[in-house]
Amino acid sequence: MTSTWQIETFLTIRNGRLHIDGHDAVDLAREYGTPLFVYSESRIRHNIARLKQVGDNVGCGFKLCYAAKAMSTLGVLRAVRDAGCDLEVNSGGELWKALKAGFRGDQLNFNGLSKEAWEIELAIENGVYAIQVDSLYELSLIEETAKRLGKKANVSLRLVPGIESNTHSGLQTAMLTSKFGMMPDEAFGAFAKYKDSEHLNLSGIHLHVGSQNPSPAVYTQAFDEMFGALLRIYRETGIRLQHINLGGGFPVNYLRDGSQADDFPAEQREMFAADFEPAEAMKFAWAEVRKKAEAEDVVDLLEGITLLLEPGRSIIADAAICLTTVRNHKQRPVSNGQRTTDNGQSEELSTVHYPLSTATSSTDRWLLTDAGFNILLSMETYKWYYHLISAERAGEPHETPYKLAGPLCDGGDVYFDIEGEGRLPDHRLLPDNVEPGELLALLNCGAYSLAQASQYNGRFLPPVVLTKADGTAELIRRRDTFEDLIASDL
Ligand SMILES: Cc1ncc(COP(=O)(O)O)c(C=O)c1O
Repeated sequence: MTSTWQIETFLTIRNGRLHIDGHDAVDLAREYGTPLFVYSESRIRHNIARLKQVGDNVGCGFKLCYAAKAMSTLGVLRAVRDAGCDLEVNSGGELWKALKAGFRGDQLNFNGLSKEAWEIELAIENGVYAIQVDSLYELSLIEETAKRLGKKANVSLRLVPGIESNTHSGLQTAMLTSKFGMMPDEAFGAFAKYKDSEHLNLSGIHLHVGSQNPSPAVYTQAFDEMFGALLRIYRETGIRLQHINLGGGFPVNYLRDGSQADDFPAEQREMFAADFEPAEAMKFAWAEVRKKAEAEDVVDLLEGITLLLEPGRSIIADAAICLTTVRNHKQRPVSNGQRTTDNGQSEELSTVHYPLSTATSSTDRWLLTDAGFNILLSMETYKWYYHLISAERAGEPHETPYKLAGPLCDGGDVYFDIEGEGRLPDHRLLPDNVEPGELLALLNCGAYSLAQASQYNGRFLPPVVLTKADGTAELIRRRDTFEDLIASDL
């Protein structure tokens, strides 16, 4: 049976079982235990190559920086580096990890909202490509720090242009109501004020339209805003910017397997199923901006710049799966404390006896896994959807509904919308008769998962295996131990 979640050579079904780059998921789970994240080096390379096509579609320099916050285990950072991609980091800690992974300072873009002096120092000492500045106050701090160090800091000002995209409200970053960046007028004032600073190289401007943005048109709007800013800065201060940074936000199709697509409200469906070619979107955006540049007779301004992108999700989300084992099961009436009998009568739960193997229209089969929101936080905070399959019966029909939940002692640790707002399907479809011990796989969960994980409930952070392009599978993060649970406690 062919399922639409399959991806040639990367996610396949062999002998009825899920394989990742040719490695049997069941064997990996047996060797490393579950929950287990499996990342694919080939898929990371494929995604980076796809995004690099943007560079072929614009008539200026191009620099691709992977947003490390999406997932920054060293083995993954190295795979990104080896694929010829630079990095965007968000804190001194991420900056330090990037250097550990072998990136040079000029390959790093340093973002973030509340930078401390030591972080600014680390960035300047390592000569990062740009420190993205979030406010006028921060710009003054950077200048002071660079002066103290006797250096010149490369900076880029983050604008908040008031662009709305159709993504989750928590993932919107370019609206005036968001916490990011500076108002365009503040930024223009800053360019005028600091243009002759001995300690600041005002090299660029930056914006980020938000994550999982479903509309290619938003990039045209963003590019247009950036061009307007570039032109105004040039006309008012004479500064020719070296780069413009359009951030990340390209979507991943989380509903590539459409079997449960109808279970989503239209807006959620549009966001989760969003799919467009970044290279096409940017080609169109570039052409629009070039027309404007020609009309203003400033094409040379565009040709002299470098376009930066800093995508995270579109590089790493669909390059990983999470293997999880069903550890427990139970059956519950559909409605609280009562169930409807076959003749339409209502009866109390305490009087109901039914075998676990049979579900009726008024009972739910619950499966309790070992993958909770401590490792997939977005499932709880943003009601994020990760498609679920049976890894050991991947080739069988997935048509039986189950309610799924994780292992945490927390009522919100469920795979559906506990608030009852229907933002996620109430049930997941799996083969019949799933029982404890069966291995399941959550797909597309490479981004913002392990990166946000915690040891909540005393749970060990899971291991990570990287299936390498040379055909081997390498453990790049071990499972936590008891000692890790108290490693920082004094
Ligand atoms: C400034 C900035 N750049 C890049 C990204 C990466 O976004 P995405 O993972 O959606 O590509 C983010 C995440 O929201 C961000 O805030």
